[in-house]
Amino acid sequence: KTRVLTGITTSGTPHLGNYVGAIRPAIAASHQSDVESFYFLADLHSLIKLQPPERVQRSTLEIAAAWLAAGLDPSKVWFYRQSDIPEITELTWLLTCVAGKGILNRAHAYKAAVDKNRGEGEDDDAAINAGLFMYPVLMAADILLFNAERVPVGRDQIQHIEMARDFGQRFNHIYGDHFALPEAAIEEHVATLPGLDGRKMSKSYDNVIPLSSSREQLKKLIFSIVTDSRAPGEAKEADGSNVFQLYQAFATADETAAMRQAFADGIGWGDAKQKLFERIDAEIAPLRERYQALVANPQRIEEQLRDGAQRVRAAYATPLLGRLREAVGLRDLS
Ligand code: TYM
Repeated sequence: KTRVLTGITTSGTPHLGNYVGAIRPAIAASHQSDVESFYFLADLHSLIKLQPPERVQRSTLEIAAAWLAAGLDPSKVWFYRQSDIPEITELTWLLTCVAGKGILNRAHAYKAAVDKNRGEGEDDDAAINAGLFMYPVLMAADILLFNAERVPVGRDQIQHIEMARDFGQRFNHIYGDHFALPEAAIEEHVATLPGLDGRKMSKSYDNVIPLSSSREQLKKLIFSIVTDSRAPGEAKEADGSNVFQLYQAFATADETAAMRQAFADGIGWGDAKQKLFERIDAEIAPLRERYQALVANPQRIEEQLRDGAQRVRAAYATPLLGRLREAVGLRDLS
């Protein structure tokens, strides 16, 4: 079976970008009979943001509920919280010792933080914690510990998957073949989902459409998407448009072609947004109801997560880490 794995950082409320980039393709993969799936909540990654602890907990609950509402079946998929698997943190150190520092210097998120400091006339590393710098190594441990081969993610994560390959390859080269080398699985028609302001939809930009939006909120948010000032009747550029890109991520190829034509024919922004709203609402309405019921019962989710972690540790994490410890010259504790 092909092993498919992906995670979402618990630093906010799940949004449509997470849904189209990770949740939707991952759930679709989990229904294939030749796939074994590992889906988890990356709460250790969220710590680099130094959020209030209640936010980490709330976000963990919400993201778990989003996975379940989208159709994840915890009896068929390994579903767990990263911090419940201590083997991940331990593997992070083993990988840290093979990871090239120069590679980490080139990570997009770290470089963006350095550039921001430079722009503000600060030292390169001012106010950057080592957690941000080491982030890709922790992520590599998430992936390699379960020998995942396919990782459904949005385009923003491709570099991280490549780094995981690189660290896995180095480890294999030095200590023998222990890791499968992962590949990113990207949805062709999705690209990076834009947020309300046209930048990438992201928890950090405060421009997201939450997956749990009510019908009214969804409509309000969609009508607030930034557009150019072309009037109804004027031909509009489909490819550069946020409205079009969002539509494309939710529509079939035929619907997308029809919308492209409507843009060329000068559809008004109000009409285009109404169509976008209807398309997205049709897809997330069933999910929204299940989500509300799920977040209302945190105890149940907590039990499922603990149970998932316990089982996946026994089945995979503990024995593999034992072999890795031995391979590098430590004692196998398993
Ligand atoms: P995170 O939490 O930022 O995002 C979770 C997933 O959602 C995708 N995504 C998007 N896709 C399309 N358009 C967007 N605007 C958009 N915004 C977010 C992301 O690409 C991602 O797939 N480091 C990861 C979490 C992680 C992980 C892992 C992923 C930790 N360990 C191991 C895969 C494998 C992150 O912060 O994603």
